[in-house]
Amino acid sequence: MYILGMESSCDETSAAIVEMDGTTRRICSNIVASQIDTHRLYGGVVPEIASRAHIEAVSRITKEALDEAGITLADLGAIAVTTHPGLIGALLVGVNFAKSLAFANNIPLISVNHIHGHIAAAYLTDTTLEPPFLAVVVSGGHTCLYLVEDYTTFTLLGGTRDDAAGEAFDKVGRKIGLPYPGGAAMDKLAHEGDPKAYKLPSCAITPDEVAFSFSGLKTAAINLIHTAEQKGETLNRADLAASLTASIVEGIVKKTDLALKTTAKSAKTLVLAGGVAANSHLRTALAELAKKRKIPFVVPERGLCGDNGAMIAAAGYYDYLAGHRADTSLNASALDDEEV
Ligand code: KG4
Ligand code: ZN
Repeated sequence: MYILGMESSCDETSAAIVEMDGTTRRICSNIVASQIDTHRLYGGVVPEIASRAHIEAVSRITKEALDEAGITLADLGAIAVTTHPGLIGALLVGVNFAKSLAFANNIPLISVNHIHGHIAAAYLTDTTLEPPFLAVVVSGGHTCLYLVEDYTTFTLLGGTRDDAAGEAFDKVGRKIGLPYPGGAAMDKLAHEGDPKAYKLPSCAITPDEVAFSFSGLKTAAINLIHTAEQKGETLNRADLAASLTASIVEGIVKKTDLALKTTAKSAKTLVLAGGVAANSHLRTALAELAKKRKIPFVVPERGLCGDNGAMIAAAGYYDYLAGHRADTSLNASALDDEEV
C-alpha cells in the first residue's frame, strides 16, 4: 500500500510517499522543504516563523510528493502525520492539513510519534530489520534509548534529564561562530582537533541508570570559550569540537552498553536514529560497540537521519497494521507520550 507521510514538528516541512507491503519497504518520494536558511538569521528556530513557513510549503510539497511518486490521492491507503512531540504551532499545520486531506478523501488517518518515526527510518535503510532491538535516538530535541519490543511497542529505558545532544552541538557551535545548526560543521571540525585537548564533564550521569545530562557539558564548553575571551587568548576551535564530540560520544556509548546488557535477552540488534545519527564519530563508535557485543548495527543513511516524511510514513504503516486510526478529534501535542 502507498502511505503519505507528513512531518512538520520543527523546521522542516516534509511529505513523502512510501510503499509498504509484506517485505516491501520502498521510498517513492521524500520531499523536504527546509527552513534552515531563514532560522539561521536568528541563530536558532523561531517557532512563529516556523509555523508560517510550514503553511506556505505544505500544499506544494504534498503535491510534489504525489507527482514524483507518480500516484494520486486515490491511490493512498493511509495518511500518517506527526502529532507529537515538537513545536505546537508547527505540528498543528501538518496535523490539520493531513486531517483535512484524509477526511475529505475518505483515507485512513494515522497519528505518529516523531521519535518513533526516527526509529522507523531504520526499516527503510535495512529492509530486513525487525524488532526486538535497542534504539538509540539522538536529535536536536531528544536523547533517549528504547527497547523496541515490536513495531508499535516501545519501552523507554532512559534519556536526558535536560538538553539533548544536538542542542549541545548547536549551542557550542554557535558560540564558536558556526552557522545554525552547528551539528554537521562540528562533526567535520572535530576530525581536525585533539579530543583530549580540553577536559569536559561526562554527559553520562547516575551510575547503573540510562541517564544523560547535556546542560552541564554545554555550559562547561561555553565557559571555556568565555574564559579564553576574557584572557585575550585564542581557543582552538577544532580541539574544542573534538573534545565536546568525544565527551558526547563516550557518554552515549557508555549508556548504550549498559542498556545492551540489561536488554541482552531481547535486543538482538542495535539501531541508531535521529538527526545526530548523521554524526560520523557517533556512527563509528556505536558500530564498534555493536561489533564488540557481536550484534548487528543499523543506522539510517544520512539523508534519512534528519526530519523527513518517509520515516513518518514507515512508522504509520505499522500503526495502521496494528489497527490504530485517528478520528476528527485528532490534535497535536508539544509533549512526548512518556512525558504526559
Ligand atoms: O532529528 P532532527 O532533524 O530534528 C529534531 O528532531 O531535533 O535533528 C536535528 C539535530 C540538530 O541539532 C543538528 O545540529 C544535528 O541534528 N545534526 C548533527 C549532525 N547532523 C545533524 N549533529 C552532529 N553531527 C552531525 N553530523
Ligand atoms: Zn527529529
